[in-house]
Amino acid sequence: MTLSRRGLIARAAASAVAAAVPERLLAATGDAGLFEARVARVQLAPPGYRETEVWTVGGTMPGMALRVPQGGRIARTLRNALPQPTSVHWHGIRIANAMDGVPGLTQAAVESGAAFRYDFVAPDAGTYWYHAHNRSVEQVARGLYGALIVEEAEAPEVDRDEVLILDDWRLDPETGQIAADFDAPHDRSHAGRIGNFVTTNGRYDLSLPVRTNERLRLRLINASNARIFALALSGLDGWTVALDGMPLASPEPVAEAVVLGPGQRADLIVDVTAAEGETAHLARVEDGKGFAQVAFPVAGTAGGVRMTAPGALPPNPRMEVGGLGDALTAQLNMSGGAMGQLDAAVLDGERRSFAQLVEANQFWAFNGTIGMTQAPLLEAARGQTLRLTIVNDTAFPHAMHLHGMHFREVAGDGSLGPLRDTALMLPTETREVAFVADNPGDWLLHCHMLSHAASGMMTWLRVTA
Ligand code: C2O
Ligand code: CU
Repeated sequence: MTLSRRGLIARAAASAVAAAVPERLLAATGDAGLFEARVARVQLAPPGYRETEVWTVGGTMPGMALRVPQGGRIARTLRNALPQPTSVHWHGIRIANAMDGVPGLTQAAVESGAAFRYDFVAPDAGTYWYHAHNRSVEQVARGLYGALIVEEAEAPEVDRDEVLILDDWRLDPETGQIAADFDAPHDRSHAGRIGNFVTTNGRYDLSLPVRTNERLRLRLINASNARIFALALSGLDGWTVALDGMPLASPEPVAEAVVLGPGQRADLIVDVTAAEGETAHLARVEDGKGFAQVAFPVAGTAGGVRMTAPGALPPNPRMEVGGLGDALTAQLNMSGGAMGQLDAAVLDGERRSFAQLVEANQFWAFNGTIGMTQAPLLEAARGQTLRLTIVNDTAFPHAMHLHGMHFREVAGDGSLGPLRDTALMLPTETREVAFVADNPGDWLLHCHMLSHAASGMMTWLRVTA
């Protein structure tokens, strides 16, 4: 017996697992924007292990990929079929504040069984991602994220465009299931939750066949909780053309490793130089050794001559950071963690001793305060330029992410670096970032090492209209 299309739609409407039905069928029911967060099982670990239970949007790993043209609208109804409240943050998008997905700041968390309508415009082309922003330390570790690609009106000429989402998982080596120690004090007070199983697009052995001289655009997204990826090319010649979604003024040849902290992205354009029968690699560099992150076995040739260096991607609108001379300035001192200097800090409005902080499983402070404050770190009028000096007075790296706006780093000589939404701060580093507060609303500024965010490294800014 074959099911009719009509029958399928009726069943989908009647069932709670509508997300399992292909999008084109849902379109007929007028619910094309469905975006269901739910439990699924995927083959993550090598054969021999049973499937791993993950949390995903739409049932696949990685979750449903979204692609829209620049200036296009994303309208999706998040349905929460998870056993926990959740929300979705659209990382790196200059979004309307009410759509930013931060429980307690821009919306209430979406309870199990409930729904929330996200509806916004994506003003900038580039490589972005979405991820859970409620109890992120658990929900992102369980896989609740996906790619969000905003396409240029005039895309660079490449043979292929590949989205590569890098992640690491902490799997129980016996069962292949995700270890549920999400609040482990050691992770919170040290480098965060580092996994023991590294994947790209949910595959530990991702292999993409290519041809010699083929040109690929690789959109790299670091979705891990805390791992810093250092990536090198072998059998590939490449240029970095964008960071955190935003085009570089001119493409930079990939000489050494491309370093991506949690939440960061890089767009590379690479030419396959490996010959027929060889395998090119995107390699992960750890302790001076290379590991295959993605393999590109070469079969065939795409024309005889390699192309010349790529041009710059078209810049996104309104990205100048002017007014540095009369900017509003502030300093953010990061302290705490293992081997740090934190002997007391303010938690929930009260000064606590280090022993009390340990008891509360809270380890990190911004300007002496742990976690969110009543008043914002900074309040700026729309259009004002802000300069923020960030001092990492800790023994660990931190990936500082600003919601809603991109910033540029101010170098010692006053020159401005590339646009970023996440800055990887190495231990004991001091860096200054500057941006124009042109997006009204309440915006988080936090460490994207998610165990750190959950144990103190979280503050916010207000931009008044
Ligand atoms: Cu990618 Cu506040 O997060
Ligand atoms: Cu951190």
